[in-house]
Amino acid sequence: MSDKKATLKIDGMDAAIELPIYSGTLGPDVVDVGSLTGKGMFTYDPGFVSTAACESQITYIDGGQGVLLHRGYPIDQLAEQSDYLETCFLLLYGELPTRAEKEEFVRTVHNHTMVHEQIRTFFNGFRRDAHPMAIMCGVVGALSAFYHDSLEISEERDRQVAAFRLIAKMPTLAAMSYKFSIGQPFMYPDNTLSYAENFLHMMFGNPCEPSTISPVLAKAMDRIFLLHADHEQNASTSTVRLAGSSGANPFACIAAGIAALWGPSHGGANEAVLKMLEEIGDVSRIDEFVARAKDKDDPFRLMGFGHRVYKNFDPRAKVMKEAADDVLAELGIENDPLLAIAKRLEEIALHDEYFIEKKLYPNVDFYSGIILKAIGIPTSMFTVIFAVGRTVGWIAHWHEMISGSYRIGRPRQLYTGHQQRDYVPLDKR
Ligand code: CMC
Repeated sequence: MSDKKATLKIDGMDAAIELPIYSGTLGPDVVDVGSLTGKGMFTYDPGFVSTAACESQITYIDGGQGVLLHRGYPIDQLAEQSDYLETCFLLLYGELPTRAEKEEFVRTVHNHTMVHEQIRTFFNGFRRDAHPMAIMCGVVGALSAFYHDSLEISEERDRQVAAFRLIAKMPTLAAMSYKFSIGQPFMYPDNTLSYAENFLHMMFGNPCEPSTISPVLAKAMDRIFLLHADHEQNASTSTVRLAGSSGANPFACIAAGIAALWGPSHGGANEAVLKMLEEIGDVSRIDEFVARAKDKDDPFRLMGFGHRVYKNFDPRAKVMKEAADDVLAELGIENDPLLAIAKRLEEIALHDEYFIEKKLYPNVDFYSGIILKAIGIPTSMFTVIFAVGRTVGWIAHWHEMISGSYRIGRPRQLYTGHQQRDYVPLDKR
């Protein structure tokens, strides 16, 4: 907090309005406009471009400098030296765990990986060709019908159990949604495996043979989860907070977050990138697609480029690009046609005046799709994998909100509809 104040002078109003200004530990100051409603006025900020909706201590982003910190630790250091579950601990509890705390945390997550047997039958209600994100919206929301013992959100213990259940069960449900789509039996989790290995085992294993999991691919998978773990107040996290602000249970809130993530402007972009590369089809057609992306009359956008906050580079994309190189080398993929298109597209866009001027750089989803495809993950599962990784961020923000003082989220509007008018009976219209 600071002693600084902003003064708002409004035409037709005698006295100026004084608004307090708060300073965080990093980042721009914020003007507290909460008192404006008492003066009969709201602020107007579609897309929340200039609006801080909450106070948070979890993640900090400086989009101009390409900085992303989780609890103060830079994302590249975490990606290099930490692992996904340790980063989950950090996001949830605010500090890196000691060795004993880490072991206990990992053990607890492993103890929660199985889902209620009844959930298996729940899947049968879906069509085999259902999009896995559609299934995830349904089954994650349905968890609230299975775990009645952890729904008292005012109890710290219940919130912790719900967090463990969600982090542990998301890979199981994600793999089940894939197995269901290809008609293979669901795989039970193997709790002797690491988080990422277990996910690959449930995705690609079958009950007839032991799973063989490449350590390089498991490491890449873990890094993908880690790089998606949190990203402060993005659309899906804000959705989770808004749903949670009404007192809804955590499983329902996370299902709301999954729905918000699904769109191609957000988590759905990784799937859209691959579809776009397939549509381009050949390096010779890149110029045509770049021209379309620049054409104001064409709704087409280069998927995997641009970001609301990053106007320099996406620090996650930098790490993801290195991981992509490792995975492709491990798998001996050097001449993949889609990869060739991606590389050339990146080169052209990075040197094109339109993209330079608008500060449109490749984002995390541009490279994650390439890695996931190389690992053999079907395109329709890309956004599901984003959801698995992001679950801890959603839960950490939900927990931070519920643990502090909060009010139900209730944005206001600039109304431009009809003024009051009288009802016209049917025979007079
Ligand atoms: N291709 C072509 N033009 C673009 C693109 C793009 N990918 N992204 C933005 N622009 C243009 C846009 O047309 C606008 O031009 P003008 O000022 O002439 O009207 C300008 O750049 C600013 O764009 P905006 O839509 O106002 O920016 P935004 O902050 O509202 O949108 C975005 C950010 C990520 C939704 C957008 O860049 C986009 O649609 N990118 C493609 C989808 C994508 O890759 N999304 C994944 C984001 S990273 C993963 C995550 O965290 O969710």
